[in-house]
Amino acid sequence: MNKAATKEKYDLQFASEVDKGLSEHPKHLPTRFIYDDEGSRLFEEIMRLPEYYLTRAEQEIMNTYSGEIASIIGNEKFNLIELGAGNGEKTATLIKQLLEEKKTFRYVPIDISEGAIAALHHELGRQFGNLKIEGINSDYFEGLRWIKDHSGRRNVVLFLGSNIGNFQLDHQHLFMKKLSQCLKPDDYLLIGFDLIKDYELIRRAYFDGAGVTARFNLNLIHRINRELGANFNVEEMGYYSAYNPYKKRNEAYVYSKCDQEVEIKANNKSYKLEAFEPINTEYSYKYSIADTDRLAAEYGFDVKGHFLDSESLFTDALWLRK
Ligand code: AVI
Repeated sequence: MNKAATKEKYDLQFASEVDKGLSEHPKHLPTRFIYDDEGSRLFEEIMRLPEYYLTRAEQEIMNTYSGEIASIIGNEKFNLIELGAGNGEKTATLIKQLLEEKKTFRYVPIDISEGAIAALHHELGRQFGNLKIEGINSDYFEGLRWIKDHSGRRNVVLFLGSNIGNFQLDHQHLFMKKLSQCLKPDDYLLIGFDLIKDYELIRRAYFDGAGVTARFNLNLIHRINRELGANFNVEEMGYYSAYNPYKKRNEAYVYSKCDQEVEIKANNKSYKLEAFEPINTEYSYKYSIADTDRLAAEYGFDVKGHFLDSESLFTDALWLRK
């Protein structure tokens, strides 16, 4: 599919998923559309927040264990594929190690934000002159197609940051099944999971004092206004978030503080929001080590190791496709 056709398909999906989410009870909005260039920029801000421990914990894991991970990967040629690459800061630590050990690989970052891919090319190109980069601007599912079409070499897939936690459980299943089908025996997957911990620590990570996470979630509403010709009164909207220990997930919501009737031109339709009616925008699932090992077994992987930060907040699990 050419770029214009891909964009058109994406815009249609955006409009129809928003329609579906606002027509259902309880209401919800599609998480993946939070990440336009502004959403990705706000997420970078989140990663630097004092409350958002996930990025620091995973950076510590990379600093401590890149050498060990590199030596397990071995010396065969490989594709280093990163799903949802973002700003690539944590990956840079692993790339540095791999280059120092003279491994032969190309780096294939896949990200839904065009700006993020362009910035990665620029930044990693600047840091590592001899790194082969082949960025792909697409969602995860399209990215998996690339893996299938380039199966000549061993694949080492990175799925960091606990990105897996943002899937709804049915999508998580579809994604893991597809990923497993795209990989060959002896391909690796390094996958990040945010571990279950003190509920309050989790809650604060998603309800920061400076209100950046609120702006990140409300960016989706701004985006719907801009791109789908809607008239949400964003000034009258708020953000709420809480950890649900039964469901093992943090739940994020936006809501209107007054009754609103919102028109969305792209859908030729109006939607009624009642005052304080919650609209779910994001789940962030949390895992025990046993939960992650069960996932590995379910999708055909052997667990080669768990790499945890010093406070056991987060694990990067290294799985081998059987
Ligand atoms: C990208 N993802 C793993 C983040 C998370 O922790 O669920 C997204 C995020 N949303 C709010 N803060 C961070």
